[in-house]
Amino acid sequence: MCGIVGYTGPRNALDILVPSLERLEYRGYDSAGISIDDGNDSIHIVRTTGKLSALKKKLESHTYLEGYSGIGHTRWATHGKVTLENAHPHQDCQKAISVAHNGIVENYSSLKKILQDQGHKFLSMTDTEIIPHLIEEELKHTKSLEKAVARTVSKLEGGNSIVVISTANKGTIIAARQGHSGGIAIGSGDNEMFVASDLPAIIPHTKTIQHLDAGEMAIISPTNVLYKDMKGNLLSKPYTEISFNVQGTDKGTFDHFMLKEIYEQPKAISQTFKNRVSFDKKQINFPDFPLTFKEINAVKKIVLIGMGSSLHAAMVGKTWLEQVAGIPAEWDHSSEFRYRESVFQEGTLLISLTQSGETADTLAAMLRAKENQINQVVLSNYPGTQAERIAEKLLPIEAGPEIGVAATKTFTCSLSTLYLLSIFLGVNRGKLDQMKISSLIDDLVLLPELMTKYLSTDDQIREIADKYQKYPNFLFLGRGLNYPLAMEGALKLKELSYIHAEGYPAGEMKHGPISLIDNSMPVVGIIPSDSLRDKMLSSLSESKARGAKVLAIASENETLVREIVDDVIWIPDAPSELSPILTALPLQLLAYHIALLRGCDIDQPRNLAKSVTVE
Ligand code: G6P
Repeated sequence: MCGIVGYTGPRNALDILVPSLERLEYRGYDSAGISIDDGNDSIHIVRTTGKLSALKKKLESHTYLEGYSGIGHTRWATHGKVTLENAHPHQDCQKAISVAHNGIVENYSSLKKILQDQGHKFLSMTDTEIIPHLIEEELKHTKSLEKAVARTVSKLEGGNSIVVISTANKGTIIAARQGHSGGIAIGSGDNEMFVASDLPAIIPHTKTIQHLDAGEMAIISPTNVLYKDMKGNLLSKPYTEISFNVQGTDKGTFDHFMLKEIYEQPKAISQTFKNRVSFDKKQINFPDFPLTFKEINAVKKIVLIGMGSSLHAAMVGKTWLEQVAGIPAEWDHSSEFRYRESVFQEGTLLISLTQSGETADTLAAMLRAKENQINQVVLSNYPGTQAERIAEKLLPIEAGPEIGVAATKTFTCSLSTLYLLSIFLGVNRGKLDQMKISSLIDDLVLLPELMTKYLSTDDQIREIADKYQKYPNFLFLGRGLNYPLAMEGALKLKELSYIHAEGYPAGEMKHGPISLIDNSMPVVGIIPSDSLRDKMLSSLSESKARGAKVLAIASENETLVREIVDDVIWIPDAPSELSPILTALPLQLLAYHIALLRGCDIDQPRNLAKSVTVE
């Protein structure tokens, strides 16, 4: 979704802002722009539609663009089409104020009408453009930009984050946040300050970070930041030292971030084990788990929530928590949970999954749980996010930076963390005896190596992708732990290749999807060696009997499968509990290769965003 950057300090702002925006490209965007205050009472704005390469090209002809403070933006259209006029930053009538914005101003049409009646002229169809005009209007009543911004923000409805510069306040950036609309991080450097919606934009420059919470603003100058609430009360903010590896934001020798991230999974999974699995002592520790032994034993039900791939991880988590830990569990889309008249029962534990920690629906669902005093933890890839602040307890999934928009290593690391948590809770609740614990931990030792073996299916998959790339529809089937993987496989394919794909629990096939099956609709069946393999084989036979082209992802021990299906991606045999972490890999590679053959934009699929900060 939209990305924000800002810089004020002794360096030429343009040299900082453009590379910072490039590091936000992964979020997904459709236009971009920058505003530079030249220090001589002018703000220069350059904007383009399309990729940042177009903006860079346009900037080449703007040799005069020098200045020591500025803001930048990548836009993901919500209000108004993808046009030059709608790209950010936006300005007031006097061209003295410039604003970049993430979020949605829900009451923008009524505010726009009032401003138009006051004589303000609008050049775009965006909700954002009302913000500089509102500030301009407020500045008629106060000389203080800070006060004008605060008054403006309090008129906006919805979740909104903004950065503002003004010719009258040289070298100052004002950032403000209202509700949930993505984060605003402020990084302190040596006599310079950096602002960004996402840490990768600024971590090459500084790792000393402060975050804006909802209802707060920051008045940023090169040497100082003041934090205030919207009433002007001063706030004190803790610093977070980020230990992020910037090298992770580089493609290395891979053609795409997504492929690099797929191949990083064995290493990333090992990171989730660090400080949690003692292979010698056969123990799982969760030093960062917030509930005491007594509280763990008082848990009556776990509710897991998430969106997209995080939801699919939540769905797998439900089965593990029930099977391994013996705790009743259910899952829900955050977007549904937040509006449901849920009865919050005592003894419920909410586990939220969000790799970004900024998904608007998940944050809103977490807030509801908090208001109802429900215990909660969040599994996320980044520290210091709004999700961590709401849950007050973060269980890091340790995937490292993920740049490809489609989740890959964050998905398997979420799964791995959930699996460890299930064992940990099972041990604490006396559900697992020492023999079972030892055998589960022995299986875990194998996981990174097994993942590497699963990745070696890449050559088979490339060939198979070539055979299947032309089909317009796909049906993915799985059962048990692999039913959510059928959903994830379908999601990866549609996200990356724009092919219509559905994921179903195989038992549902006869209740509708079967009517779609003919020779133009391939069926992909996931068949690891588990207790449901015979049922899966029957579903694939039924698909074949109706003319479908059938592709199985099957354990190499499954000799029968060869007689039933057209093609097989053979996967090494593995402990069935771990199969979702493993079958994810061929599904990711299948989507990757089909998308590549169809010439799609792998790392930034159209219309998608890495972190969905608006509802
Ligand atoms: C977007 C991303 C997905 C992600 C989903 C949930 O749709 O493109 O990859 O799974 O949001 O994001 P979260 O950050 O909450 O896991």
